Amino acid sequence: MNMGKIASVENMYGHGQRTTLKMVYGENRGGEEVLDICEEHEIPLVPYFSLFTSMPKKDDRISAIAKKYHVSEAQVNIAWLLHRSPWILPIPGTSQLKHFEENLKAGEIELTEEDMQFLNPPTP
Ligand SMILES: NC(=O)c1ccc[n+]([C@@H]2O[C@H](COP(=O)([O-])OP(=O)(O)OC[C@H]3O[C@@H](n4cnc5c(N)ncnc54)[C@H](OP(=O)(O)O)[C@@H]3O)[C@@H](O)[C@H]2O)c1
Repeated sequence: MNMGKIASVENMYGHGQRTTLKMVYGENRGGEEVLDICEEHEIPLVPYFSLFTSMPKKDDRISAIAKKYHVSEAQVNIAWLLHRSPWILPIPGTSQLKHFEENLKAGEIELTEEDMQFLNPPTP
């Protein structure tokens, strides 16, 4: 059997959970470890649980950037993914139309390099 090309990688990844999450029943593979490989081979990284794992952590840096641009913390999380790499395709899930509309607007946020450095402390 021939192996086809890899079309995309779907790993758990978000600002609040960038690396592999080890739990009693196994591992949820993180995105940070494979992002360089995805970029090198031009493979989109589709991150799941990017808000689910990040929002409850109430990160002070996310909160500061949200205040700076008068946007929500969810929007900063999504904007961070969009700025982190052009190979990341965010798929924020929601059960609320209000959140869906809010999440769409995250694409309009323009983070500076300084913002990105501020948002990138040691990997959690
Ligand atoms: N491959 C896999 O193993 C895997 C695993 C998980 C998910 N997925 C897929 O990934 C896609 C995304 O799902 P996900 O669970 O990963 O989504 P997610 O990005 O982690 O977001 C979902 C969570 O964020 C909350 N949320 C969304 N927008 C928000 C906002 N603006 N403000 C505050 N909270 C907000 C949602 O609550 P509300 O509903 O209240 O908005 C929900 O609790 C789905 O298609 C899913 O099937 C794949």
